[in-house]
Amino acid sequence: MQKVQFTETVLRDANQSLIATRLRFDEFEPILKTLDRAGYYSLECWGGATFDSCLRYLNEDPWERLRQIRRACPNTKLQMLLRGQNLLGYHHYPDDVVRAFVKKSIENGIDVIRIFDALNDVRNLEVAVDETLKNGALASGAICYTISPIHTIDSYVALAKRLEEMGCGTIAIKDMAGILSPAEAYRLVTALKEAVKVPLVLHTHCTTGLAYMTALKAAEAGVDVIDTAISPLSGGTSQPATETLYYALKELGSPVELDSAALNEIADFFKNVRRQELESGQLNPNVMGTDTKALIYQVPGGMLSNLVAQLSAQGKLDKLDDVLLETPKVREDLGYPPLVTPMSQMVGAQATANVLEGERYKTVSKEVRAYLKGEYGHAPGAINEEVRRKILGDEQPLTGRFADTLPPALEKARAELGDLAESEEDVLSYIAFPRQAEAYFEHRKEKRGRTYHYEFRAAEE
Ligand code: CO
Repeated sequence: MQKVQFTETVLRDANQSLIATRLRFDEFEPILKTLDRAGYYSLECWGGATFDSCLRYLNEDPWERLRQIRRACPNTKLQMLLRGQNLLGYHHYPDDVVRAFVKKSIENGIDVIRIFDALNDVRNLEVAVDETLKNGALASGAICYTISPIHTIDSYVALAKRLEEMGCGTIAIKDMAGILSPAEAYRLVTALKEAVKVPLVLHTHCTTGLAYMTALKAAEAGVDVIDTAISPLSGGTSQPATETLYYALKELGSPVELDSAALNEIADFFKNVRRQELESGQLNPNVMGTDTKALIYQVPGGMLSNLVAQLSAQGKLDKLDDVLLETPKVREDLGYPPLVTPMSQMVGAQATANVLEGERYKTVSKEVRAYLKGEYGHAPGAINEEVRRKILGDEQPLTGRFADTLPPALEKARAELGDLAESEEDVLSYIAFPRQAEAYFEHRKEKRGRTYHYEFRAAEE
């Protein structure tokens, strides 16, 4: 067997999938040096929801978190997840912001940027990939995997070739819902291996229980890197366990060497974290289990639990089955978008509205409206013309790239922030999450004020 390397996801995807990205820096800081000597291909530790969570819930500067991880892990490639033109948010940003964000991510320590677009529209990846390459980092082009009549192996192969041409150094199969089956993984990896020269990465989730088998078949078909999470935070809606797949692949002849003593130490450390998160209620034991519903409804586990939460909040949990039947219909009307952020939220909310209102598309979110206008990119398939007309009337959808219509935003944000911004990174945090960033800057100032006050009094005594 070829060498199959490992990307450890515990600080980003496992953290995001199991405990809503609530792990604070000081909670995982003690294990960083050990993570650095484990021998991973890369450590996924930033991007995705971590940025939002740092500012919104943890009173942390996400950039400072990245710099601290960089200092503690000088020997391991640091990896982040970027939502293409959406960066780490939920809507498109102008190109000046995308370029500055990518540049600063790399300057602060990122080596590998995995870039995806929820619609697999490469126009939404081009600027981020270009800027990544300009700054000497590795761009990993992601294919959002989904199942639909129009998402065929050929369509994925064409996308992968395009990503390789753009300069992506690896291609990642991104199966956010955990619905990629072992047989399909074997066919897909085989086809991609024949079509592109760059290494292939497999990213999947254990949600439906397929992940270990899928990883194994992908490895047999020649995949080069797999995403895994250290055992205590593996399984369920997270990735398969690092140690387990390491053991299995090594036995099959993959000449990969991880430091087993380090893995042990990391596992012991996160066993404690898991216990604490269970005790605090942040980790719901349900998400650690296997849920095969996603195979029936083909919705990601996170989306399913969101639907359940929203319906229970409104006392309408009895409508869950109707909403789950409506979801694929909405998805078909919208041209089969992959159910990944932000499309999963949009499709789920629309299906819920359609059922609860008793009339389809009576209420439509501004996001779905924007999607129909082409503001998120090309829909993968044809949009239901009747639905489009009901919502947009005679308004013609955009055919060009939405970001081309957005005015530059960096200067304006800089001016708005004034003294509150202490760096270019602050300006970017503000553009990404204005209210949360401002609240954080105020908190930071106050904290410093308190320290100063304390020291002043101490000097007096
Ligand atoms: Co994921």
